[in-house]
Amino acid sequence: MVLQIKNVDLTYQTDKQVVTALKNINLQIKEGSFVCVLGPSGCGKTTLLRILAGYHQATSGEVLLDNKPISPKPDRHRGVVFQQQMLYPWLNIEDNVGFGLKMRKVPAKEKREIVDHYLEMVGLSQFKKAKSYELSGGMKQRASIARVLANDPRIVLMDEPFGALDAMTKEQMQDNIRKIWKETHKTIFFITHDVEEALLLGTHIIVLSARPGRILREMYSDFPYRIEEGKSRMYRTEPDFVKRREEIISLISL
Ligand SMILES: Nc1ncnc2c1ncn2[C@@H]1O[C@H](COP(=O)(O)OP(=O)(O)OP(=O)(O)O)[C@@H](O)[C@H]1O
Ligand SMILES: [Mg+2]
Repeated sequence: MVLQIKNVDLTYQTDKQVVTALKNINLQIKEGSFVCVLGPSGCGKTTLLRILAGYHQATSGEVLLDNKPISPKPDRHRGVVFQQQMLYPWLNIEDNVGFGLKMRKVPAKEKREIVDHYLEMVGLSQFKKAKSYELSGGMKQRASIARVLANDPRIVLMDEPFGALDAMTKEQMQDNIRKIWKETHKTIFFITHDVEEALLLGTHIIVLSARPGRILREMYSDFPYRIEEGKSRMYRTEPDFVKRREEIISLISL
């Protein structure tokens, strides 16, 4: 197990109110899983991701990465990709992707090789000298993914990374992240609102209840292993896919 979440509760305390966002979360995440988390708006998905990233501490319970408690600070071993990318506008794409490597003083030649490798993986080799404002939304998101991967994290945390993209770009991005997952064997923890997206990507699908978020259902799936690049549309009508989709939708809309 790369990640273990044990009896985690999280309560936000503001001067106006107390909000319990997560209640009794228990999860065991196997190395190399593609975890997809689904649940109604406000159920605590981002909160859970923030705990894994080390931005928030659980009010009670324990979170272990490689059997060690997650430290309450950002760490390159937990790479985060947000819905709106956070590239540095004054750096070109190559320097954005290489930023973490530069901070860690990785030698220039090695840095260049790593950056080129991940830019190639996300299909941005031709754009390494471009600034982020010269890229489309999907391309910026791919650059953010390359930047996270260049740091060789133990776990990649993604909060609705394709939520702001149009349907066609989204499908291409799903193909791209599935391919990257197969090539790198990384453990990915991916939040989405989109039930079909979760089924097209997730090997371990987690459905949360409305706030306070509790685990309603865990599902394991082999669709992501089977789906070939550019062929995801064929799977959307498979009886097992349709059955799972309807089951998840009925759980979420309870
Ligand atoms: N920093 C904060 N302080 C106080 N309350 C917060 C804070 N962040 C989130 N909350 C509350 O915690 C609950 C869960 O929020 P969270 O952002 O985790 O939900 P979510 O599942 O990611 O929602 P969405 O699908 O809309 O992104 C919400 O009721 C929200 O108002
Ligand atoms: Mg959220």
